Amino acid sequence: MRQDHLITATQLSRGDIEGVLDRARKAAADPSAYAGRHAGTVLALCFFEPSTRTRMSFDAAAKRLGIDTIDMGDVGSSSVSKGESLADTVRVIEGYADAIVLRHPSEGAATLAAEFVDVPVINAGDGAGQHPSQTLLDLHTIRENHGLDDLTVGIMGDLKYGRTVHSLATALTNFDARQHFISPQSLRLPRSVRFDLHETGAQVREHDELAAVLPELDVLYVTRIQKERFPDENEYHRVAGEYQIDADTLADAAADLTVMHPLPRVDEIAPDVDDTDHARYFEQAHNGIPVRMALLDTLLGDGADDGPTTETETDHE
Ligand code: CP
Repeated sequence: MRQDHLITATQLSRGDIEGVLDRARKAAADPSAYAGRHAGTVLALCFFEPSTRTRMSFDAAAKRLGIDTIDMGDVGSSSVSKGESLADTVRVIEGYADAIVLRHPSEGAATLAAEFVDVPVINAGDGAGQHPSQTLLDLHTIRENHGLDDLTVGIMGDLKYGRTVHSLATALTNFDARQHFISPQSLRLPRSVRFDLHETGAQVREHDELAAVLPELDVLYVTRIQKERFPDENEYHRVAGEYQIDADTLADAAADLTVMHPLPRVDEIAPDVDDTDHARYFEQAHNGIPVRMALLDTLLGDGADDGPTTETETDHE
C-alpha cells in the first residue's frame, strides 16, 4: 500500500486491493500459514460507536496472526466520558499498541487521528464517511463469486449516510464495473462521492426503483437505512421501509445474482432470501476474518513481502 494508514477507499489502487485480496485468499485456504506471524505485536481496538462484526473480526483476525489485542471498551467506561479529546486518546494509545483500529461517529475522525500518531490507523467507520476495511471484504466476496471485471453492481438503500456504500463505490472504480444506485431521492449519494466517481469516469446510473435494473445485475448490495444518522427522525420514518426485498422480488434476477449486505440488517432483506442461492451476506461477514488478517499482515509486515507461501500461491484469477 502507498500509505501506512487505511483511512479511505480513495487511497486504494487496484494493485493495493488485489495484493490484500490475494493474501486473504491464502489466509482463507490455509490460516495456519499465518499463525503466530505477528507474535509480540499489539493491536488497539477503539470503538466510539457500536459494532459486532468489525470489532470481533479484527480481534479474531489479530489473534490468528499471533497479535494481542487491547480494547478501549465502551466510551462510557473510558476516559472519553471525562472529556478527553480524540487526539489525546490516540496519542496515549499509540504508546500501548503497534496499530489502532478506530470507529467513531464523526466523519473525518480517522483522518484526524492519523495526524497525531505514527502507528497505522485503520478507519473502521467514521460517521457517514468511509469504511474501507469493509470494502476489502466486500470486494473479496464479489471476487470469489464473480471475479472483479465486467461486473454490473446494484447498490440500494441509504446511499447518503451509508459509509460502506461510499467506500465500495469508490473502490469499484478500479475495476470494469457498471454501478447502479437505487434509492429514494432524499438518500442519493453525497455530492463529494459523486464528484469522485465522476472524476474517475465511472459508469454510474441512478434509479428510483430496483425492478428496472434487477435483471442486469451480477451483485445487489443492499444497505440499512441509517436511523442514527438522520438529523430529523420524521424524515427517517418517511423513507424507512422502502427498498426492501424478499424472495419474490428476486424472481426476475439472474440465477447467479449475489445478494450482499454489510449487516446489520433490520428489514431490508426478508428472511426468505436467506434460503435462496443468492444470499451471500453471512459468507460476506465471515470473510472479515481472512480479509482483516490480510490487511493487518500488509500494514504490519514488510511492504515487499506478499505473505507466507501456501499451496494457493499461483491460484489467481
Ligand atoms: N458491517 C459492519 O460494519 O458491522 P458492525 O457495525 O457490526 O461492525
